[in-house]
Amino acid sequence: MLEGFADEGFADVWTPVAMSREVGKAPYALTLASERIVLFRDNAGRVSALHDQCPHRGVKLSLGKVGKDGCLECPFHGWRFASGGACAHIPLNPMPEEKRQRFAATAFPVRERGGLIWLYTRPGTEAPEEPLVPEVLEQEGAHVWLYAETWNAHWTRAMENMLDSPHLPFVHKGTIGGGLRRRMKPDSRMEMEVHPTPTGFRTSWSMDGQPSDGSLEWLRPNGMALHIPIPKRLMRLHMWCIPVDANHTRMMLASARDFLGFQPVAGLIDRFNTRILREDQAVVESSHPVEVPPASEERSVATDRATLAFRRWYTERKKRGERETTRPEAPSLAS
Ligand code: FES
Ligand SMILES: [Fe+2]
Repeated sequence: MLEGFADEGFADVWTPVAMSREVGKAPYALTLASERIVLFRDNAGRVSALHDQCPHRGVKLSLGKVGKDGCLECPFHGWRFASGGACAHIPLNPMPEEKRQRFAATAFPVRERGGLIWLYTRPGTEAPEEPLVPEVLEQEGAHVWLYAETWNAHWTRAMENMLDSPHLPFVHKGTIGGGLRRRMKPDSRMEMEVHPTPTGFRTSWSMDGQPSDGSLEWLRPNGMALHIPIPKRLMRLHMWCIPVDANHTRMMLASARDFLGFQPVAGLIDRFNTRILREDQAVVESSHPVEVPPASEERSVATDRATLAFRRWYTERKKRGERETTRPEAPSLAS
């Protein structure tokens, strides 16, 4: 069960899966690494994440509804599941509470923080650690703008794009890569630095000895943070490449800053971010094979250091996931 997470190198990780504002009173269905998930809120507004497959006959719980008791009711035979997946009622089959608990739905650890709903990709209600929620999303007074769209791409291609700086003067020559493009000469050289961090790595670059203004951070497994130094100001761009299935990725963007938060200026800046995203989209969607192949199968150069570091991590993790899921008694997929 739930092989999708391992197949996508995506088992045992926290990822945002939805924006808080998307999950209202009705159940909210999503696909994460080919696995069906349903989110719903109980009467207290607390979010639960369940496998969107009723333990009784496998239908989508998301086709059901949340009742007055805050339980999610399956549309087929009306079994009701409380927050956290416990089976609260099975119509026409009275039974003692202890027995009914054997009919629980599969739940996942879930958190709602920073305007996002985070899910841990291993069934259960406990996770070994907390999600890496960017501080700025919870910072009082910060202007935060959240946005999501779906690309026809494998999440690993999208993720590499986010960690790749040498594409800036090409894909973004009219926007954020304009400066680099103007300075670039036929014999220019870009030097990349990649520093491991406890949560991934940080990469910065220089061209012909002139360092970049910002740096990129990879936040394992699927997050990117763009740090743009502005004196006495805070500005961050966060991006998550959320696997839907092998051919689709949900790109979730959080743009946060502690200045220019008023309209219409804020709206203009925020929309500029989506323009940059569109510039990347067409290129990334054209990648073949859809999933990043092992490093030896494509030609790489010195400026690919950051993306290669990600690719090595991914290839290794996938291999380990495959080994462990083929062993029937694999203890866990934890790294
Ligand atoms: S399939 Fe869900 S209650 Fe029967
Ligand atoms: Fe880009």
